[in-house]
Amino acid sequence: MTAEVVTGLRELAWTDIPGLVALEGEAFPDDAWAEASWWGELAGRPRRDYVVVHREGELAAYAGLDHGGQVADLMTITVAPRHRGTGLGVQLLDELESRATTAGAEALMLEVRADNAPARALYDRRGYDVLTVRRAYYQPGNVDALVMRKMLAQNGIES
Ligand SMILES: CC(C)(COP(=O)(O)OP(=O)(O)OC[C@H]1O[C@@H](n2cnc3c(N)ncnc32)[C@H](O)[C@@H]1OP(=O)(O)O)[C@@H](O)C(=O)NCCC(=O)NCCS
Repeated sequence: MTAEVVTGLRELAWTDIPGLVALEGEAFPDDAWAEASWWGELAGRPRRDYVVVHREGELAAYAGLDHGGQVADLMTITVAPRHRGTGLGVQLLDELESRATTAGAEALMLEVRADNAPARALYDRRGYDVLTVRRAYYQPGNVDALVMRKMLAQNGIES
């Protein structure tokens, strides 16, 4: 699988952390990752594998993986509100699938809130299937978590 080159994409660097913390708080007001978590993710490389996208002089998106062998996990994928709906989410997901495939993973897994319609539409459109439902996983609010999986064509059986 070869992902299209994403304009402005590069590897996560420690200098991105303040921008990540700000965008994370905007995108996930209830459970944003704090600065210490980002330092931990950086320290977890190369198993942890994050990219950022800069557009028009600002952090426009970030996404990352945990390379766990046969199965890779999508840790996060976030596009800044004013850059949403322009195809960046799809491009980043393609990039992560390409990286997981290159690392030898047979499948990519993720977890999404059942009430997150834009993310669910993105994953549905890109061929992810619901494997299990974790009832009332997200608190407060009793929101279910959907565990989704996509088999990666080159290494596994494509779904
Ligand atoms: C989910 C998210 C990453 C999508 O990024 P994006 O760059 O806006 O998505 P794209 O422009 O690439 O759109 C890809 C597909 O996602 C779906 N989608 C995107 N925004 C949507 C919306 N507001 N409503 C419904 N579907 C939407 C569509 O299926 C779309 O395909 P289409 O344009 O052919 O219909 C973005 O909304 C986001 O950052 N949300 C907040 C963080 C988050 O929830 N991340 C996921 C955690 S599991």
